[in-house]
Amino acid sequence: MSTSVIGAAVSRIDGKLKVTGAARYAVDHPMDQIAYGVGIHSTIANGAIARIDTSAAESMPGVIAVLHHGNTDPLFRPANPFEHDSRAGESRPPFEDDKVYYYGQFVALVVANTFEQAQDAATRVKIEYQEVKPLVRLSDAPPPSGAPARNYKRGDPDGSFKSAPVQIDFTYTTPAETHNPMEMHGTIAVWNGNKVTLYETTQGVVNHQHVMSEMIGVPLEDVHVISPFCGSGFGGKLFPWPHSMLAAIAARKVERPVKVSVPRSLMFTTVGHRPFTQQRVRIGATKDGKLVSLQHDVVTPSSIIDAYAENCTEPTPVLYSCANVSAQQHVVHLNIGTPTPMRGPGTTPGLFAIESAMDDLAIKLNLDPLDLRLRNYAEMDESSNKPFSSKHLREAYQKGAERFGWSRRNPKVGSMRDGDLILGWGMASCTWPAGRGSAEVRVRLNADGTARASSATQDIGTGTYTIFAQVVSEKTGIPVEKVDVVLGDSSLPPGPMSGGSTGNASVLPAIAAAAEDAVNTLKGVAVKTEGSPFFNADAKTLNLTGGRLHTQDKSPDSGVPFGEILKMRRLAGIEGQAKTSPDENSHKLSSHTFGAQFCEVTWDPGIARLRVSRWVTVMDAGRIINHKTARNQILGGVVMGIGMGLFEETRYDQRNGKPLNNNFADYIVSTNADIPELDCIFVEYPDLNLNEYGARGVGEIGLTGVASALTMAVHHATGVRVRDLPIRIEQLLA
Ligand code: MOS
Repeated sequence: MSTSVIGAAVSRIDGKLKVTGAARYAVDHPMDQIAYGVGIHSTIANGAIARIDTSAAESMPGVIAVLHHGNTDPLFRPANPFEHDSRAGESRPPFEDDKVYYYGQFVALVVANTFEQAQDAATRVKIEYQEVKPLVRLSDAPPPSGAPARNYKRGDPDGSFKSAPVQIDFTYTTPAETHNPMEMHGTIAVWNGNKVTLYETTQGVVNHQHVMSEMIGVPLEDVHVISPFCGSGFGGKLFPWPHSMLAAIAARKVERPVKVSVPRSLMFTTVGHRPFTQQRVRIGATKDGKLVSLQHDVVTPSSIIDAYAENCTEPTPVLYSCANVSAQQHVVHLNIGTPTPMRGPGTTPGLFAIESAMDDLAIKLNLDPLDLRLRNYAEMDESSNKPFSSKHLREAYQKGAERFGWSRRNPKVGSMRDGDLILGWGMASCTWPAGRGSAEVRVRLNADGTARASSATQDIGTGTYTIFAQVVSEKTGIPVEKVDVVLGDSSLPPGPMSGGSTGNASVLPAIAAAAEDAVNTLKGVAVKTEGSPFFNADAKTLNLTGGRLHTQDKSPDSGVPFGEILKMRRLAGIEGQAKTSPDENSHKLSSHTFGAQFCEVTWDPGIARLRVSRWVTVMDAGRIINHKTARNQILGGVVMGIGMGLFEETRYDQRNGKPLNNNFADYIVSTNADIPELDCIFVEYPDLNLNEYGARGVGEIGLTGVASALTMAVHHATGVRVRDLPIRIEQLLA
């Protein structure tokens, strides 16, 4: 009874709040005397503001202020923008000067009594620009110069490529993508004297607090960040963006709470995106498909302001066994907003290129794609020469192949049919690094028999609230429904950012240790309380089972509910607290999550209709803490991957850098009609190197491998190799 709650498919403890609309998201928090800030954005991508005339707007009804660079003291740059806990999405604070670096940059903010008044007045602000021709396409930018953002090499990749009997040399591209969570970015800022409270939607309340403290110039303890719910982030909410600073300075100026929402159109410009990638992959191989050389050369853009590098080469030296490998990353700077991590950053577009090149090799050698991967299976991490902490990818391939029926695949293009439909089958490997950070958690046991766990981490929709309750329940026997969990508040003991699929592995040990600390305190109270059945007993002989304190030699039924002990001592509750950090020894091993994707598409050549018809995903993600929320993460990743393969692309107007499809009608994401029944299996081997539960993260890996599996399936059905995402029907008509 006490351990079964770990791994169980427990429903989200916050689910009811969400489906009834009671959960408050960032801009939902009611506030007296609130004013509304509406941002005005640049309509050029490069240049400067020559003149700004706010007089007409200022005379509009309800308008309180119009802020811009000419009437606002400059804010501050973050101290260490790329250090943990101190990273802004865009390191240039808004309104720093008259410069414009990208289309959609905030250049002014109208503050009014109502949203409608602010919106109306925003249309009356006249701005004249000095425009300079922007750099929008890769071909506009000067070629990358200077040291690459990453430069990895082992062996002699160039020489071994030249002498290899079989060579593959293709360039693969992935487009810019926009995160587009359902809940758009938004901030409510409220000042109380010199202290500010920010209601946010963020993947890191602690990082947000640090960055805002630095950028608005307010001591850390005077900045309070609250984000109890997050309508998804996908990476776009890891770091603070300019609207948050604008809300803070506007509220300080007008001495009222100010709400600033980012409209959907500006979700495409000023809150990050996944940059497009251009990736050349060269593989040298033997005639039986053994890799002898792998070279991966990547160019990705960043903004003019920041040097964000989409780390496409992260998996390159790790995924397959190969003696000669090089991986190079170059960054060019364009007049587009600063990119930011998006679900599986780097690895997702990087794997598209590597896995596509493996498929190109399989096609060239007429080898089965799965067989080719098995021939190059990496038994250890050849980039670090460390053993993997836990790798069961071979079993994942096998389970997936069995479930899918892969052995029935006829490799001949267009050879498999279902009536008039041509079937295409593809597969791919998945990987994502498994990390863990430090976390601090407080657990309180209350005299009424309930418990509370709290930490300044947050639940971004992944199920963090629920796993907190599961671990407290496991350690105390208090049922999940009696465990209250409080997250998303920077005043709590500092917890980790929800990023990089590290949250789960980071918080689990801290919750467990804090619960154990609380239980030990409880035992100490029990043996010192007169009238307690355990008075003067040795605390070490006591157990807490099912919420009842008892001596180890007797059954839990013989014991006393822990609340009774607290009441005898006239205590309302007792607390435990713990901070845990990764074990030093964990670095001796290489920890990654692995998986395999198998998919089927149907192609109707008569009407050029492509559909995804079957999907099997097998994940090797360590022990699964909650089968319901973990499965939900993987399926969500696959859905997003199908979007990456077939639909998603942010397209910029070459003249002015404007995202042409900055809305949900034109930026296409997967809908229910695009998605077949998805099958998700876990091969569960606890990865005890990472934490005592053996759990890795599952937030991002579901998306990896999806797009190349799709292009392989499309080739199998149609004979067309797509190397530039997304797959378009017109490419298949050729
Ligand atoms: Mo993730 S891209 O670190 O939210």
